[in-house]
Amino acid sequence: MPIMPDDNILNSRMSGLYGRQKGKKLGVYQRELMENQFPKFSLDIAALAAQNHIFEKEYSSLQLEIGCGGGEHIVHIAMLNPDVGYIACEPFENGVAKLVRECAEKDIKNIKIYKGNAMDIITLMPNECLSRLYILYPDPWPKWRHRKRRIISSAHLIKFARILKKDCELRFATDIDDYSAWTLSKIIKSNLFMWSANEARDWLLPWENWIQTRYECKALSEQRRPAYFRFFKK
Ligand SMILES: C[S@@+](CC[C@H](N)C(=O)[O-])C[C@H]1O[C@@H](n2cnc3c(N)ncnc32)[C@H](O)[C@@H]1O
Repeated sequence: MPIMPDDNILNSRMSGLYGRQKGKKLGVYQRELMENQFPKFSLDIAALAAQNHIFEKEYSSLQLEIGCGGGEHIVHIAMLNPDVGYIACEPFENGVAKLVRECAEKDIKNIKIYKGNAMDIITLMPNECLSRLYILYPDPWPKWRHRKRRIISSAHLIKFARILKKDCELRFATDIDDYSAWTLSKIIKSNLFMWSANEARDWLLPWENWIQTRYECKALSEQRRPAYFRFFKK
């Protein structure tokens, strides 16, 4: 059954998966954007579930970003690659409002936004439909007892592998060393992905066409060093 984007359902299903859904109250302009512009960019979940077109035109491939925050990265790559369709997932309302503003002001046609838990729509996606999946600076959940809430888990890797095409990438960035080690160990154990790095610069330097996200700027200002991983679906 398609997941309805109803806040109450989402709140109850997703509690524990991530930190905040609401932050500072939206200002008048942001509220107007959410009322008037968000519907234009909002992902049609029924169409996704029915494997119908989710964009107004056809794109050469589809990519997904989980936890896009204010959308700095996805807007940047969507503008660089107008022939690719993108789905941006973010439950945090203030982040979504910022992304909607960017999409409206830049008249972006190749991004659809899902305001909610990415795992809900991943369940609805057909096998091998994605050419890339981005997870950039996911919530670190540093306390030991909270680690099961991390978006990288053995169960989620199986779901990510199902929707990615063979040889296509899961790109993962974090500034938390323990999250890097955690992810590498889950990736290796899964046996579903190949890690492409040969030398340290392969994970210490950002990918081509990288743009700093809001969270990365914060990490750097607090002297934490980012790591950038590319995992290829076997
Ligand atoms: C630390 S922030 C990083 C945001 C952005 N990627 C950046 O680099 O600035 C992590 C984001 O992931 C979102 N998030 C957490 N769990 C999620 C989930 N299950 N589905 C979609 N987004 C999620 C959070 O709401 C938050 O905005």
